[in-house]
Parts: sequence; C-alpha cells; structure tokens
Amino acid sequence: MVGYSNKEVDFDSSRSIVDARIKTDGYSGIAYALLEGERAGARVTLGTTLEAHDADIRALAMSIHRDEAHWCGVLFAAIKRLGGEPSSGTGAFYDKAMAIGDLASRLAFLNRGQAWVVRSLREMLPKVKDEALYRDLDAMLKAHERNIEKVARSGFVKSR
Ligand SMILES: [Fe+2]
Repeated sequence: MVGYSNKEVDFDSSRSIVDARIKTDGYSGIAYALLEGERAGARVTLGTTLEAHDADIRALAMSIHRDEAHWCGVLFAAIKRLGGEPSSGTGAFYDKAMAIGDLASRLAFLNRGQAWVVRSLREMLPKVKDEALYRDLDAMLKAHERNIEKVARSGFVKSR
C-alpha cells in the first residue's frame, strides 16, 4: 500500500524506480514503487493489531496485514525476476499512519492509501507489457478493492 492523502503523496517513488534498474519496460518500475508502500501497509496493520483492544478490529487489521504482507512478497519476487534490486525501505505512510492514535481514524487513513494504490494500478495496468507482472498487479488491484470495501463496511472507520 502506498501512502496518500488528498494533498500529498507520502513516498518518493522516483528515486526507487531510478535505482531499480528494471530493464523490461518502463512501466515495470511500478512494482518497485509499490513495494515500499505495501511494506508500510503491512507494518501499519500489524501495529494496529497489537494496539487494538477490540477483538474485531484486531481481526480486521490482521486480515489486511496478511494481504499486504502477501503483496510485499509478490512484488519482491517480481522485481527480482525483472532484474531489479528490491528496496528494503518502508514508505513514509507508515510513520504518518502510526502517528494517528485513534484507530478508527487510522483505518480511514489506511483506506485512503489503499484507494491511491487502486487508482495507480488502474492507470498502470493497461501499459504493463510483462504478462506475469500484469496478472500479479491485476490480482493486487482486485484484492485492494475488496479490502477497501471490507474496512469501509466494518463500522470501525470514521473520517478525519
Ligand atoms: Fe496495500
């Protein structure tokens, strides 16, 4: 997951893409950019699981955590396969999200980040030429749409 609010993008993808040295085509670099964001999402949801007193919020955060961690692995493998060197960095979204003490507000912030990922993937997918990467990113898009809906319908989210 990549951090986003209405006014700013919470990570610097350009540096990561340049450093990735992915050679297949220019659009494959999106996998590299998304990895740090998914890592941030995985850490935010894990941290939320540890902080939550409510068992339902813990279960919700853990289910999203498992998916975010899964996409980290998928993106890591895709970057390797495409000849890049995956970053070990975590998106700035992590610090921003964890600074939000109220978990309902944090989940709302998480969902805005997930929505940024969905928009990015929808924009990038038609341009991705590598078939395996296309399948991975398409599955990631659909999973993010499902998780946004799951969090939105949970009843725990509120706007900031
Ligand atoms: Fe995500």
